Amino acid sequence: MAEVTLDTISNLAKRRGFVFQSSEIYGGLRSAYDYGPLGAELLRNVKAEWWHTMVQIRPDVVGLDSAIIQARQVWQASGHEEVFTDPMVECRNCNSRHRLDKLEDPSQCPTCGVRGELTDPRNFNLMLRTHMGPVESEENLVYLRPETAQGIFINYESIRRTNRLKLPFGIAQIGKAFRNEITPGQFVFRTREFEQMEMEFFCRPEEADQWFEYWREHRFQWYVDLGIDPENLRLRAHENDELSHYSAGTADVEYRFPWGWDELEGLANRTDFDLRQHTEHAGEDLRYFDQESDERFFPYVIEPAAGATRAMFAFMIDAYTEEMVNDESRVVLKLDHRLAPYKVAVLPLSKKDELIQPAEKLAESLRRRWMVELDVTQSIGRRYRRQDEIGTPWCVTVDFDTLEDNAVTVRDRDTMDQDRVSIDGVEDYLAARLG
Ligand code: GAP
Repeated sequence: MAEVTLDTISNLAKRRGFVFQSSEIYGGLRSAYDYGPLGAELLRNVKAEWWHTMVQIRPDVVGLDSAIIQARQVWQASGHEEVFTDPMVECRNCNSRHRLDKLEDPSQCPTCGVRGELTDPRNFNLMLRTHMGPVESEENLVYLRPETAQGIFINYESIRRTNRLKLPFGIAQIGKAFRNEITPGQFVFRTREFEQMEMEFFCRPEEADQWFEYWREHRFQWYVDLGIDPENLRLRAHENDELSHYSAGTADVEYRFPWGWDELEGLANRTDFDLRQHTEHAGEDLRYFDQESDERFFPYVIEPAAGATRAMFAFMIDAYTEEMVNDESRVVLKLDHRLAPYKVAVLPLSKKDELIQPAEKLAESLRRRWMVELDVTQSIGRRYRRQDEIGTPWCVTVDFDTLEDNAVTVRDRDTMDQDRVSIDGVEDYLAARLG
């Protein structure tokens, strides 16, 4: 099988309308991306699967959707204003800027190759700034959230009280986050606007290690269950000097990206850092009162923090397959059917009305349940190839025999096996496989 490169996936993503560069007609921002029709579906499906696993089927986790703009004090209390920085160096020769901790050789500029011209590092704060209201003053300064997590901490007490939650419990949220990355790149892997899927799991301090173990395994398995080859996944514990300012222990779920192992998701033991900080800064007691023991204490927090856009990218890379079929190469995106943008494609064999009409009717009825594409263009071979490339698990072909036997051919993306199924039975046939 051919090696999957970054270009292979980014070209497929652009060619088929998964992902476009933001503001492309003006030259592109290179920091943010727009998700086209297929990308929007794939991303929605990734988030829906996360929500299903992390919220819907759990009695101990509830959801939240908090604002992107929060009071500046939130980021002062959380420590982000002071220490959410990356060490930045600048090349005196070509003026390019780099993250020191990402340089292979800290004495050499990776852009122009000149040695000895990098400046001393300075800490660069990653939060994107804007102003609330018409006056651009220091008092009106606010940040676009660099993580969704703080929205959870500042709502912790209201959620606990209104939902009568008892430890241990989690609060989950999916949403946009923004970081003024020094070097965005590798397509959607590192961008300045992205989406996170985070859950803060509040527990008794003495149970934190045990929950940390639990969530490490649980999150690793989520990617495997959705089709990622476990050979391409690993858990890596952070060294002490890598730990974020709030963390007593972090493990990353890493994926073998085309450029090597890199972070897919971070799991941290945030201790009681955030609740203590907000208690101190906001003057509101965020301790938990345990009625049984008559004790008041700060819960510890275990945080699985994933990137939705980054996960979508990893799912695409892992699903990408090139195969030889009858001496012809075919590209197949072997996405788990839960993630596939379209579940079914309905393909009338010819553009004749007598086939288009039953195809439209079938597509219309299947659309009530699933995302369905009706494709009437090009030869049937090309249409199969397109559907394989965008990961559609089933193609339903309406042919001239359909007019006689009232049946269609259902083709499986991965095995290419074909079944003849009566039109009335197509929905049940697919439901048995799609759920
Ligand atoms: N609340 C903890 C937190 O934000 P993080 O490891 O900085 O932890 C969590 O971020 C996840 O968010 C990462 O594992 C990654 O998947 C995603 N992420 C972070 N920065 C990103 C960026 N610039 N572009 C795309 N995804 C990013």
